[in-house]
Amino acid sequence: MSPLWHPFTQHGLEGAMTPIARTEGACLFRPDGRAIVDAISSWWVTTHGHRHPALMKAIQQACEDYDQIIFAGFTHEPAEKLAQELVQMTPAGLKHVFYSDSGSTCVEVALKMALGFFRNTGRPRHQIVVMENSYHGDTIGAMSIGARGVYNAAYEPLLFDVARIDFPHSGSEQATLDQFETIARASQAAALIVEPLVLGAGGMCFYSSDILAELRRIAERHDVLLVADEVMTGWGRTGTLFACEQAGISPDILCTSKGLTGGAIPLAATLATSEIYEAHLSTEKSKMFFHSSSYTANPIACAAGLANAQVWRIEPVQERIDVLAKRQQQQMQKLGQHKNLENARTLGTIAAIDVKTKESGYLAGLGNDVRSFCLERGVLIRPLGNVLYVMPPYCISEAQLDRVYDVLTEAVEALV
Ligand SMILES: Cc1ncc(COP(=O)(O)O)c(C=O)c1O
Repeated sequence: MSPLWHPFTQHGLEGAMTPIARTEGACLFRPDGRAIVDAISSWWVTTHGHRHPALMKAIQQACEDYDQIIFAGFTHEPAEKLAQELVQMTPAGLKHVFYSDSGSTCVEVALKMALGFFRNTGRPRHQIVVMENSYHGDTIGAMSIGARGVYNAAYEPLLFDVARIDFPHSGSEQATLDQFETIARASQAAALIVEPLVLGAGGMCFYSSDILAELRRIAERHDVLLVADEVMTGWGRTGTLFACEQAGISPDILCTSKGLTGGAIPLAATLATSEIYEAHLSTEKSKMFFHSSSYTANPIACAAGLANAQVWRIEPVQERIDVLAKRQQQQMQKLGQHKNLENARTLGTIAAIDVKTKESGYLAGLGNDVRSFCLERGVLIRPLGNVLYVMPPYCISEAQLDRVYDVLTEAVEALV
């Protein structure tokens, strides 16, 4: 028996894990060579495709010179160059880059930066405002600001309180804005953290860029920091490089991971404005930013990040995204006709649809059945409860995407 304990896996219910021997492009390959189309980009990380040659080459080359280097008191070219790129590529005003190693940790860093900012400027504020049903990761801080449910019930006593605003459902957007304005006016809130334009793990729920822009305006009016968690939405997922661009806004803090290295190797970054950086800049040691992890700014990961930035610059990535976005729309239009499905929606390269069922939520049994059905037919789909979604790498071919939707349609016919 394997000693492995897998993430988000009930080993008492699931059979053996599927062994993968190789990856390439939009596919994972079993040891016997059978392909599985990765229709969820291996948990949303793989943007350009698996083992993109430029990324693999950059990693190999970095290994010639580096392994891990302590990042306090030392620096290196891959980290410096990538930081310059990130400042250029993210919305204006984000001038400082703090590296970490996962989506959860870059969110933790963001929260600590926000609280440090208020403390160091002599107006301590501790409240974090979040959107209902958000997901920001699985560390204690990230869980505290996310939705509460079965996945964190055991840890509830350790989670800190936050202020929550409703998801801006169509027709009740103003209520959400009013809720935020009321909270913000009380001058207790340090930051509002949002997943811009789409709640990912919360069920692929989309909201408009106008709402995001308005949330930004309210935050600014009341001196509340806006943190954009672009861990999922960044690097083209919503159709633009970062989702904030669609609202024409710059957050005070931006979190990025997943597609930061094209999904090839773990890395994360939290970007902040000069105001936030300068609040920590002092001759007093007590004002420094008290955060580090051993693998901060791993040079090999930074080299992959730098190669990813190059891919964005020299390859027609935006064109691929536009083509994929259009195909996703067409496919969802067809799937949306199904009598047992509703609420077909797409945003950039993300497509989602809900199975009509009374049993919604993460534990809805249907999701597992759809997952197994699709896997047997060579497609990796991982529904969120009754929400079926497709979020493939941008290199997926038309035939591969057709296959994904054919199998998904078969699954709905057979199981719903
Ligand atoms: C919006 C968002 N934030 C944070 C995270 C956590 O990222 P990680 O799993 O790398 O810790 C995720 C993961 O899916 C996410 O979607």
